[in-house]
Amino acid sequence: MHETYNDTVVRQFAVMTIVWGIVGMLVGVVIAAQLAWPALNFDIPWLTYGRLRPLHTNAVIFAFGGSALFATSYHVVQRTCHVRLFCRRLAAFTFWGWQAVIVLAAVTLPLGITQGKEYAELEWPIDILIAVVWVAYAVVFIGTIARRRVRHIYVANWFFAAFILAVAMLHIVNSAVIPVSLWKSYSLYAGVQDAMVQWWYGHNAVGFFLTAGFLGIMYYFVPKQANRPIYSYRLSIVHFWSLVFTYMWAGPHHLHYTALPDWAQSLGMVMSLILLAPSWGGMINGIMTLSGAWEKLRTDPVLRFLIVSVSFYGMSTFEGPMMSIKTVNALSHYTDWTIGHVHSGALGWVAFVSIGAMYYLIPKLFERELHSLRLVETHFWVSTVGIVLYITSMWVAGIMQGLMWRAVNDDGTLTYSFVESVEAMHPFYVIRALGGVLFFAGMVVMAWNLWKTVRGARPGEAPIPAPAH
Ligand code: HEM
Ligand code: HEM
Repeated sequence: MHETYNDTVVRQFAVMTIVWGIVGMLVGVVIAAQLAWPALNFDIPWLTYGRLRPLHTNAVIFAFGGSALFATSYHVVQRTCHVRLFCRRLAAFTFWGWQAVIVLAAVTLPLGITQGKEYAELEWPIDILIAVVWVAYAVVFIGTIARRRVRHIYVANWFFAAFILAVAMLHIVNSAVIPVSLWKSYSLYAGVQDAMVQWWYGHNAVGFFLTAGFLGIMYYFVPKQANRPIYSYRLSIVHFWSLVFTYMWAGPHHLHYTALPDWAQSLGMVMSLILLAPSWGGMINGIMTLSGAWEKLRTDPVLRFLIVSVSFYGMSTFEGPMMSIKTVNALSHYTDWTIGHVHSGALGWVAFVSIGAMYYLIPKLFERELHSLRLVETHFWVSTVGIVLYITSMWVAGIMQGLMWRAVNDDGTLTYSFVESVEAMHPFYVIRALGGVLFFAGMVVMAWNLWKTVRGARPGEAPIPAPAH
């Protein structure tokens, strides 16, 4: 009997990518609306902004993004190594374990159970489960590479492996705590060390979870969808090593003008500026894969998702280094500019590249033709307009906030009270909420299209005509 690829686990994660994308973005729309109209928390504690915000971040990053990464990495590693995924049971455990983590997060966060560390909010029992699932993921992935039948290890697998190993290390170190009860613990680190460990984790969550893993997606799915080899394999190797080396040092840019020693802040800033080079090397490599075949962009909306995502990657990795410059950060920090930057990366890069990969993967996994390219086209434009509304409103709002907070009168008093700056934000919060609704609507169109795809006939299967009456 022929050995077959383990597509079951890939299919499960791919479906959950869509489900969690919709859930997480719906919560995003709710909190965006709450910022514009605060009464929308209805005075119910578990619907308050402070509890729903971490629910949003956890759902979109770890549930949506995480499921997309599991699905794509398991698919890519099998197809590029020409071997079945290592250990079916362990792979199944990573699926059910990861879903259990997500459900536990969805219950505990609205109840207000949290460690209070951004992107690492979940309490210690859930953290232990995450560590176990993640180590199992590493065993499955690296076990598959070890059994490969192709000598060469394709570059996408290097990015996936770096993402898996780095996240294991970051999570285990940053989650070290002393538990005092089942749902309460205190960090093992104190004061500024705690802040530094947290932002070493936090920035590398961006660098490895939201970047390296998704670059793995880019390196496989862009060439596949464009039906062309990657522009420069040599550049991809330089990209890999320079990126993984540099990201680790950039964390202190989240702690400018704090109690962190000044030299550490400057080091973080310099490393962030250097990071522009590998990031743009990667972007150029992704986009130039299309050289000689640009016309495909006109006819293939799936490819357009992928290529526009790489452009947003370039944009946010230009903006990030600029914001890490101390004098720029003195204006941008604490403002909505950061939120705009986050979502140009999160919506434009992370979500778009995952969406492109799912449009490629789901029909393939279910052996169907994509139901409607027209609907993919609609999705593309609705979401793109949504992103533009989101990030432009946040740029304007953020820079305005920064300028209002620092404006002083001749006598040295502040020109504006804080509440005046909040009031000035209102129209921009409404525009952002509208952008969010559009992006979310695009996801619903996608779910419908893929549902019809999966329920449709297999190619070659003739549908039975309905009985005539
Ligand atoms: C070269 C690449 C990048 C650099 C140097 C960079 C730099 C920065 C800087 C300076 C901040 C503001 C810190 C503050 O004032 O608090 C920031 C925030 C952030 N960036 Fe980036 N960025 C980069 C790329 C990205 C990408 C591609 C994404 C997303 C996919 C991203 C996600 C975030 C997030 C989530 C935050 C908010 C962190 C928080 O305060 O919660 N960044 N980044
Ligand atoms: C419909 C789409 C989305 C909407 C409407 C939305 C809305 C929001 C809102 C209102 C906030 C809080 C901003 C604040 O505190 O001022 C937020 C934070 C955040 N969102 Fe989203 N979001 C969406 C999609 C996503 C996606 C897909 C990702 C990641 C892949 C993401 C990642 C984040 C992160 C990391 C933060 C925290 C930023 C920080 O602390 O600086 N969001 N989002």
